[in-house]
Amino acid sequence: MAEEAWGRMFSAIGQTDTRQHYNDYAAKYEQDCACLGYSEPEEMVGMLKEVLPNFSDDHLQVLDIAAGTGLMGELLRSANFKGVIDGIDGSANMLEKAREKGIYRNLIEEFVLPDKALPLKDQMYDVTCCLGSMSVPHIQPEALKEFVRVTKTGGMMGFAVVTTPRSGAYEQKLAEIVKSLENSGQWKNLKAIKSAIFQYNFDKIDAEKTYTTHYVFERL
Ligand SMILES: C[S@@+](CC[C@H](N)C(=O)[O-])C[C@H]1O[C@@H](n2cnc3c(N)ncnc32)[C@H](O)[C@@H]1O
Repeated sequence: MAEEAWGRMFSAIGQTDTRQHYNDYAAKYEQDCACLGYSEPEEMVGMLKEVLPNFSDDHLQVLDIAAGTGLMGELLRSANFKGVIDGIDGSANMLEKAREKGIYRNLIEEFVLPDKALPLKDQMYDVTCCLGSMSVPHIQPEALKEFVRVTKTGGMMGFAVVTTPRSGAYEQKLAEIVKSLENSGQWKNLKAIKSAIFQYNFDKIDAEKTYTTHYVFERL
């Protein structure tokens, strides 16, 4: 069963375009995440609780980029987050699952592209996060500049990046953008936590070459 879930989650994505993949996958996505032990949103909620002393204040506003079916929103609420949560995602069917949860205020159907501004004003959010989606078939590293633009000064940006034997070029570009945002005084790194990509995969792959790094940056 886990083998099939792994195939649906990873092998299938290169065989069609990303929007179509997730529109077709929406009904089974959460079942496969549970089966494989997907934990990026959970890890990120833990990190945000550590860096935000006012985590449970009801005036906080979160933007969940590539929100998918809303696992992050659900975990934030379970962790006693009382603020507003908005989401953006390119797949209507994934967003429909998120909408059914009744947790998100606004859910925007939009593909995040490297050369296109998010349809959001500057400095709207206390927290901007992006889980499961910083990789070649998903969101390109250039989008980090938009994460910064829509986050308030003093706010947090959290995202996770999967390292695989094939992610070198993507990660190199991401590292360049991270550095340029640091050098221009736009953000600073507060936390970086490395963990197994999925519990299921951990025993089966070379953990030195395939893992996830969760980052939290502060908007300066
Ligand atoms: C692996 S899922 C992650 C969903 C959710 N963040 C989670 O952790 O469960 C990837 C999501 O990213 C969305 N996505 C992929 N590329 C995107 C893009 N360029 N712009 C907007 N959404 C995108 C997909 O539609 C899908 O819902």
